[in-house]
Amino acid sequence: MCGIVGYTGSNPALFPLLQGLERLEYRGYDSAGVALIEDGKIVVEKKVGKIRELIRSLWGKEFRGTVGIGHTRWATHGEVCELNAHPHTDSKGEFAVVHNGIIENYREIKEELQKLGIEYKSNTDTEAIVHLVALNYEGDLLKAVLKTIKKLKGAYAFAVISNRERGRIVAVRYGSPLVVGIGKGENFIASDIPALLPFTRDVIPLEDGEVVDLRPDGVLVYNFDGQLITKEVMHVPWDIISAEKGGFKHFMLKEIFEQPRTLGDTIRGYISRDLKLPFSLKDFRRILIVACGTSYHAGLVGKYWIEKHLGVPVEVAYASEVRYAHIPIGEKDLVIAVSQSGETADTRFSALAMKEKGATLLSIVNVMGSALDRESDYTLYTHAGPEIGVAATKTFTAQLAVLYALALSQGENSSRDMENLLEIPRMVEEVLSAHEKIKDLAIKYANYKNFLYLGRYLSYPVALEGALKLKEISYIHAEGYPAGEMKHGPIALIDEKTPTVVVAPADRVYEKILSNIEEVLARKGKVIGVGFEKDEKLRSLCDAVMEVPQVEEDLTPFLTTVPLQLFAYYIADYLGLDVDQPRNLAKTVTVE
Ligand code: F6R
Repeated sequence: MCGIVGYTGSNPALFPLLQGLERLEYRGYDSAGVALIEDGKIVVEKKVGKIRELIRSLWGKEFRGTVGIGHTRWATHGEVCELNAHPHTDSKGEFAVVHNGIIENYREIKEELQKLGIEYKSNTDTEAIVHLVALNYEGDLLKAVLKTIKKLKGAYAFAVISNRERGRIVAVRYGSPLVVGIGKGENFIASDIPALLPFTRDVIPLEDGEVVDLRPDGVLVYNFDGQLITKEVMHVPWDIISAEKGGFKHFMLKEIFEQPRTLGDTIRGYISRDLKLPFSLKDFRRILIVACGTSYHAGLVGKYWIEKHLGVPVEVAYASEVRYAHIPIGEKDLVIAVSQSGETADTRFSALAMKEKGATLLSIVNVMGSALDRESDYTLYTHAGPEIGVAATKTFTAQLAVLYALALSQGENSSRDMENLLEIPRMVEEVLSAHEKIKDLAIKYANYKNFLYLGRYLSYPVALEGALKLKEISYIHAEGYPAGEMKHGPIALIDEKTPTVVVAPADRVYEKILSNIEEVLARKGKVIGVGFEKDEKLRSLCDAVMEVPQVEEDLTPFLTTVPLQLFAYYIADYLGLDVDQPRNLAKTVTVE
C-alpha cells in the first residue's frame, strides 16, 4: 500500500506533491514525507501522522526546488516512526527514494550492504533500494535503477531522485500501481489517478515491469531490459469535482448520498449497451467469483442472481484463500474478479493464476486503466467515479448493479425486471431521505460494544456488509452471520447488551427470519430491523426498524444496504472517529 507522488517541472514541486499526497492519503496515513532538491542538495521533510502534520511542520519554510518526490505510508516493515517514514536517503544524501509494496529479500540485501560498511538507518525494506541505487550509480540514474531492480524480489513501485541529476525522476512499477501524469513543461507520477487530477487528465498507466524516466520536457518508458517502449496517453474522463467533499462532512457521507446518481449511471449504462460480451455465461461449466472485503460481499449477492437467472453454478471465494489453494479450474470455467480499485494484490494474483490455468477472466472494476482492468480478458466498469472514503459504499452498490445487469442480460429476463431495476436510483433517494431518523437511532446505539448482523438468502451478504461497515469505521465489534445458522452457535452471544440488526425484507425467507427474530427476543436481545415500510409485523417485533420501499425480492440488497451504511457512518461520526481514514486501514491493499 502507501501512496507515492513525484513532480518535475519549472514550478516549486512542494505544492503538487502535497496536493497529490492528500488525494492519496486513503492508501495509508501512518506518516508522510517529501524530498526536494534545494540548491543542489536533497532536503527531506517527514512527519509521523497524516499529511496535515507534515504540512504543519513545513509552515513558514520556503522551498523552491522544482523536482521532488513524496510519500504517505501504511507501515508494512518497521514501526510507525519518523525514522521509518519515507523518503529514505543513501549514506551521502545524494539519492532519495519513496516506495510502495514489499521488497521480500531486503534482509539479504541489508546484510550485503552492511558487509560493505554501509550503515542501514531504518527498519524498513525500502532503505535497501536507495543504497543499491547509490552503489550502482555511474553517472546515469536510469542505468543505476535498471541495475538495482535486477536484485529486488517482491511486488513494488518506487521513485528515485538524485541531486546529481537535477530535473530527473526515475520510477518503477512491479506489482504496485503507478501512473504518469503528462503536463505542459512539467510531468508527474503518482500511485493513483486522483492525485494527478488537479494538474492534468492526460495519463499513462504503467504496466508491471516498466521503468519511467521523467524530466520536465519528456517522459520515456522502458522495460526492465532498458528497451524503450511506446505507450499511449489516456485522457481521464473524471472531473476534479467528483474528488472533492462538496459540502459533506466526510467523503463517506458524500459517497453514500451519491448512490442514486452512481447507480443510475451504472444501470443506464449497462441496460442501454446491453452488456456486450462475446460469450454467454451459460457457455461455462461454472463461474468462480474472487474478491476481497466489500467486493466479496457483492460477489455473494451476485451468486444468488446468476444462479437464479442463468442456472450456472457459482462459487464465491476470498481471493486470499484461493490464491494458494488447489482449485481445479480450466478452460471451461469463468472467473469473475470484483474489485473497486482493480489493484488489490490478493484479487489480482488469484485471478491471474486462474487465467494462466486457462480460465476466462472477466473483471468488474471501478478504476479504468487499473492493473486488473488491463490484465483481464474482459472488463465491466462500475461507473461510480472515484471513491475516496476508505469504507466502500457507492462502489458496492455499483458492483451489485453490474452483477444484476449481467444476470438479467444473459438470462431469461423479463423487460419488467429491467424496468424495476431502473426504479432503484429513485428508491435509494427515498431511503436517504430518512437519514435523520437513522442518525437518531445510531446515536441511541452508539455506545454498545458488540453487535450481531443477521440476514438470510440475498440479505445474508447485506448483513455481512453492514457488520463490516460498522467495525471498520467505528471499531465496534460486529459479527455478520446467516440468520438460520445462529441457532448452531452464535445464539449464545445474545443478551441485552448485544443488539442484533436483522435484515428482513418480505422475501421468500421472510417467515423464517421472523422466527429468527423471535429467537433473539426470547433471549432478551434487542432487535433493530431493516425491512419494508409499513411492515407492521416486523415493527411489532423490533425495537426500531430502518425502512426501505417495497421492491421485488431480487432488488432488496440495493435498498437494505443503504440504511446500514448510514447507521455505521452516524455511529462512527458520533463517536468522533476518523470516518474517512479509519485506523490501520488503507483503501487499496497492494500487499498479500
Ligand atoms: C471495506 C473495503 C475493503 C475492500 C477490499 C477490496 O469497506 O473497502 O474491504 O472492499 O479491500 O478492495 P477492492 O474492491 O479495491 O479490491
